Amino acid sequence: MKGIILAAGTGTRLYPASVPISKILLPIYDKPMIYYPITTLLLAGIRDILIITSPYDIDNFKKALGDGSQIGVKFSYEIQKVPRGISESFIIARDFIQNEPVALILGDNIFHGFGFSSMLKEVAKRTSGATVFGYQVHDPQRFGVVEFDKNQKVLSIEEKPKFPKSNYAITGLYFYDKNVVEYAKSLKPSARGELEITDLNKIYLKNNSLNVEILGRGFAWLDTGTFESLLQAANFVQSMEINTGMKIAAIEEVACRMGYITPKQLIELSQKYKQNGYGVYLEKMAHLIQAN
Ligand code: G1P
Repeated sequence: MKGIILAAGTGTRLYPASVPISKILLPIYDKPMIYYPITTLLLAGIRDILIITSPYDIDNFKKALGDGSQIGVKFSYEIQKVPRGISESFIIARDFIQNEPVALILGDNIFHGFGFSSMLKEVAKRTSGATVFGYQVHDPQRFGVVEFDKNQKVLSIEEKPKFPKSNYAITGLYFYDKNVVEYAKSLKPSARGELEITDLNKIYLKNNSLNVEILGRGFAWLDTGTFESLLQAANFVQSMEINTGMKIAAIEEVACRMGYITPKQLIELSQKYKQNGYGVYLEKMAHLIQAN
């Protein structure tokens, strides 16, 4: 399965913080925001990842991540000139996707919770239909919203409804079968001029092939859309990391745990950051992984 990270937004809600650099490269505590969605894809077993950026930011993304070979994966890059909607990603990425199933994650979506990796691995095995993830929020009108019946069968999905039919937001992580490019091409722009991801999901719903996995209340799906939520996300990560002594979304460590690089390679990578706690942590993890 292939993976796409959509990181092309202009991030105007975080101006002036995101004027000089894409929002998706701003730090969440000790690492760039994009490390978090990369981790989600790696945990799903995805190693071939296309990053879609704006024309202004592509060089910064390449500087931050390179071609991925250092962590045993492949990063490639495409440009979305104008933000014409999440579903346009599949049209931009059609040559990359090549008739295979594909996962898409929004660059500003941070997931963290027990059991997530095994859930991702299960979902990534599905070769037909689509899978999205529902998460209970207090302000569903800001998101795509999914409505269920009492057997958790999906009744409807709506984009940013004024009167939401449930409190379940659809998060920014989507798994699709090989039909996704054709379906995306058939979409018409919405009133805000975008090819909506919700309209794409509605096609799968109509075909009876939309699965919704629920992320329970012990789970964290963090928002980074405002100054407050950006800082809250950083505070959350700091607090978890300090309490557990384990880092969230250290992509080098994740790659080593997934077997994409050896502990020896992880030690080499850690040297780049040896002046700080990030490098010290990577080296420590390399020794631990080696010993097990
Ligand atoms: C987008 C989607 C929405 C989804 C959200 C998740 O919203 O359109 O359905 O719930 O991402 O982050 P946007 O970021 O365009 O406001």
